[in-house]
Amino acid sequence: MTTTLEQRLNAYRRILDISKQLNSTLEYGALLQQIVAAVVEILNVEAASIMLQDPSTGELRFEIASNLKPHETERIAVPLDRSIAGWIFTHGEPRVIEDVTKDPKHYRQVDSATQFVTRNLLGVPLRTHTKVIGVVQALNKQDGEKFNGEDISLLTVLASQAGVAIENARLFQQSDFVAEIVHELRTPLAALRASTVLLRRPDLPEAKRAEVYGLLEEETERLIALTSDFLDLARLESGRAEMDRRAFDLAGLVRDCVTLVSPQAAGKDIEIFIEIGEVEASGDKSKLKQVLLNLLTNAIKYNRHGGQVLVSGYINEVGMVQVDVRDTGHGIRPENLPNMFRKFYRVADTANTVQGTGLGLAICKHIIEAHGGSIWVESVVDEGTTFSFVLPF
Ligand SMILES: Nc1ncnc2c1ncn2[C@@H]1O[C@H](COP(=O)(O)OP(=O)(O)O)[C@@H](O)[C@H]1O
Ligand SMILES: [Mg+2]
Repeated sequence: MTTTLEQRLNAYRRILDISKQLNSTLEYGALLQQIVAAVVEILNVEAASIMLQDPSTGELRFEIASNLKPHETERIAVPLDRSIAGWIFTHGEPRVIEDVTKDPKHYRQVDSATQFVTRNLLGVPLRTHTKVIGVVQALNKQDGEKFNGEDISLLTVLASQAGVAIENARLFQQSDFVAEIVHELRTPLAALRASTVLLRRPDLPEAKRAEVYGLLEEETERLIALTSDFLDLARLESGRAEMDRRAFDLAGLVRDCVTLVSPQAAGKDIEIFIEIGEVEASGDKSKLKQVLLNLLTNAIKYNRHGGQVLVSGYINEVGMVQVDVRDTGHGIRPENLPNMFRKFYRVADTANTVQGTGLGLAICKHIIEAHGGSIWVESVVDEGTTFSFVLPF
């Protein structure tokens, strides 16, 4: 069946409507949903997906797929040199595959991981103003039809609108981050200014003077922690942080980290136990040290006086290296659990009594995911909390 002129005009009109809608959506997740829904509708296909290049590994990663739930696409990476999407990305050209089973470049791991059977596909590069950032794919043309030249132009137009909208949404997210940073820096800076004003006063009693010096010290420490966390997170978010992967001895790293936090634990009378055999892990040791240190300091900071912390490291049932950091703290209420890895998020009950930036867990998540792993939390109120992460071997 050939498309009539009227059908074509309708499709382009629909693209115009959609692109207006895309340009007014700055919320990244909602934007991605709209794009794949538009591809499914306009190209009359079973499913659509967007893959973006992961700047830290160079691989393409699923950002969204219309037929999968977000957690199912997480972590699915596709190598550039051994996949159809990789070909489209590196050549910057559209491509139709009429029968993927006959194409040696079809990367079967994706179908087997997602239980979706791809029969045919059309993919086009996804570009911003300056470069190719990923690939948009339309999967399985409906009604037994084949992808034609018209489909290629439709998807190309749609992808160019989508690329610009994605770039805008990302820039918006960044400007949001800058605003939050400035906001977070104001409080310690105001405290520093107030302290210096006080210290200039000759009539300030000696005891008060000592107190102000203490405050100065504390707020300066907080500023240093904030700025270094900001920098780490900004690097990780932009994908500029490089993971230097090597094999290392996990038990050794855990022992080093426990030694570093033991003065802090002693201050609260907290005992730390280690349960770990000879486990060889692979990854960026200094970045993973940062993850372990943050989980350990959290397990101490949010623990009760005289509490316990248990760190275990082992190879789990699916052959991944797993680390659990368990504490006997007050626990986290179920309604707060989904927010734990969001930047700047701190549970209100402790935010005023315990020092912190609310960035530690967001940093941990980025580092673990950049290794192709995942991190999660389980908690029982009044019993304690366990943070766990896995790393692929
Ligand atoms: N082990 C834990 N037990 C209870 N609450 C925790 C634990 N770890 C983290 N939290 C909560 O999560 C928040 C975010 O942690 P994090 O990102 O490390 O930031 P920070 O420690 O700087 O506040 C903390 O403020 C605290 O409310
Ligand atoms: Mg922390």
